[in-house]
Amino acid sequence: MMADLYRGLDRFSSLEREAILSWLRTTEPAELERLFIAADTVRRRTVGDEVHLRGLVEISNHCRRRCAYCGIRAPNRALRRYRMTQDEILAAAEEARAAGFGTLVLQSGEDPQLTGPYVAGLVSEIKRRTGLAVTLSLGERSRDDLARWREAGADRYLLRFETSDAALYRRIHPAADPEGPDRFALLGTLRALGYEVGSGVMIGIPGQSYQSLADDILAFRKLDLDMIGVGPYLPHPHTPLGYRPGHFLLPDSEQVPNDADMTYRVLSLTRLVCPFANIPSTTALATLANEEGRDLGLLRGANVVMPNLTPERYRSLYEIYPNKACLHETAEFLRTTLETRINFLGRKIGTGPGSKKIK
Ligand code: 5AD
Repeated sequence: MMADLYRGLDRFSSLEREAILSWLRTTEPAELERLFIAADTVRRRTVGDEVHLRGLVEISNHCRRRCAYCGIRAPNRALRRYRMTQDEILAAAEEARAAGFGTLVLQSGEDPQLTGPYVAGLVSEIKRRTGLAVTLSLGERSRDDLARWREAGADRYLLRFETSDAALYRRIHPAADPEGPDRFALLGTLRALGYEVGSGVMIGIPGQSYQSLADDILAFRKLDLDMIGVGPYLPHPHTPLGYRPGHFLLPDSEQVPNDADMTYRVLSLTRLVCPFANIPSTTALATLANEEGRDLGLLRGANVVMPNLTPERYRSLYEIYPNKACLHETAEFLRTTLETRINFLGRKIGTGPGSKKIK
């Protein structure tokens, strides 16, 4: 049985570029259905029916970067900035624990005031008080900071590489430090420090071609990621890319659309190339396609949901893209409605930290 399973997985995980491209481009509904079913079958056999909940706390929307797509980019003067206090963050951690989540995710812009020692102290206090698994998503940071946070007890780190197309990457990411390591190098550093490593991309970035998206998916496999987040690119009017994307655009036949259908395809292919990874059905997808979209993500490869636990008064300020889903829900409400929906899909809420099962 196990031997069969691994033979089956091998067939999928050896998917090559041409096959991936044809799945990304097919217009045949029956073929697409085959892809979705294959991904769901692999998901059930590898990571099982548990859906892990990660409580997401957006601890600061200050950011020193100028990413062309992101609403919290430094030059956006239309945005009021906030930074949660340590007490507010600890209260959110407690809320996550009380609601039964196994993991707390701390995310922020690249905020220099979240210093290495401060975050280290925060992580160890959260671990001491709650015992939750702690995931950090604080942008590109120095090796020293990352090492210090790992020593303080951080378990996982998320850093999307956004696109594997180097030219497109450069166009949408004015470098903070041109001499600094690139994101692939940082992912290697995180791995060497013993973190569970997560990355991912946006789908439908203006200028993103099908070829480059196929390469993104192959990169997931090459990097052997533990966690992979993919979501649609959502234009933000106060960013250069959202305001005037014209000069980025490729011919229609080359440009990847930023829609729900393409997101499902990528989710399924990601499951097939990385059968054991933890893969969220993302907030960006739910923003585009509501709860139905989130459910379909879970039925087409995903096994994780990241409910937002940021205090209400800050939530709308963490506006990386407009109209983010779930702006007004509490941990408890999320926990009960989500549980009902997840059970309805024939799945169950995961217990424990929900680490990657096989490396
Ligand atoms: N649309 C979709 N996703 C976005 N992100 C940032 N800005 C946008 C946007 N406009 C994603 C990036 C980042 C993650 C935290 O949010 O992929 O890594």
